[in-house]
Amino acid sequence: MKKSRSLEEINQTEKDYWNESKLDRTKIKKLRRHAFFYSYKREKHILNELLKDFNDKDVLEIGSYTWASWFNENTKPKSLSCINISEKELEKGKKHTASKDFHIKHYLMDANDLTFKDESFDIVFGGAILHHLDIKKSLEHIHRVLKPGGKIVFLEPLNMNPLYKIYRNMNPKERTPDEHALVSKDFEIIKEKFTFNHYFFDFFTVIFGFISLKIFGDKKYDNWLNKFGYNLDVASSKISFLHPLFARVIIYGTKK
Ligand SMILES: C[S@@+](CC[C@H](N)C(=O)[O-])C[C@H]1O[C@@H](n2cnc3c(N)ncnc32)[C@H](O)[C@@H]1O
Repeated sequence: MKKSRSLEEINQTEKDYWNESKLDRTKIKKLRRHAFFYSYKREKHILNELLKDFNDKDVLEIGSYTWASWFNENTKPKSLSCINISEKELEKGKKHTASKDFHIKHYLMDANDLTFKDESFDIVFGGAILHHLDIKKSLEHIHRVLKPGGKIVFLEPLNMNPLYKIYRNMNPKERTPDEHALVSKDFEIIKEKFTFNHYFFDFFTVIFGFISLKIFGDKKYDNWLNKFGYNLDVASSKISFLHPLFARVIIYGTKK
């Protein structure tokens, strides 16, 4: 059985992995770029709708390095605070935000132990971050720093489909050792603190995208096979018992 590690150990490993760029995602990047061609457009469309809420708000982004990369030209929060546990990621983040014309601050901070005052933010968001954290601890902090009625938006990977579990076990270099793509018990933890809804992405897109990549080749994303997989996903993502099949989820909700 895997020995459980302390949060300090996990945080140090995360810091080292991101500071030293230890991950190798070359293989998965190519498949994602091909297979998710249509679902990335759907993701963008959904995020653009959710981003309308960000204007004139105090917003916190946790654990991301592309910072504000979701934002479009109309997104203008009152303030944006960005945190990361890795110095290198934080520096990259500063570069990404250099051209933005709203008030931005960067902090080296652990998302499991936010040091902001209670009720500081209207919105907390992040891309592929909750699954790097102690979900219970971090959500308690996120809940605490949100104002009454404050909102969350997260885009996270899922690990409920046995096929993805097998793939992950076979490709450990693509992930940090302690990260844990979300499973159903994590949704139960989120439910304790937030009312939320979700959009699920990428089951058939992965299968048909994989075949499409073999048949059509790398840059030929825009083809009928990819589109067929995508359309199947959009239809099946509306059926709740199929949700565990999917690879990614957007969670959007409100503080209880
Ligand atoms: C998968 S990456 C997210 C990248 C992000 N989607 C982006 O915008 O490109 C995970 C990020 O979480 C950060 N991280 C990991 N553990 C953290 C913690 N305890 N507190 C804050 N940030 C953390 C890592 O340094 C890394 O930047």
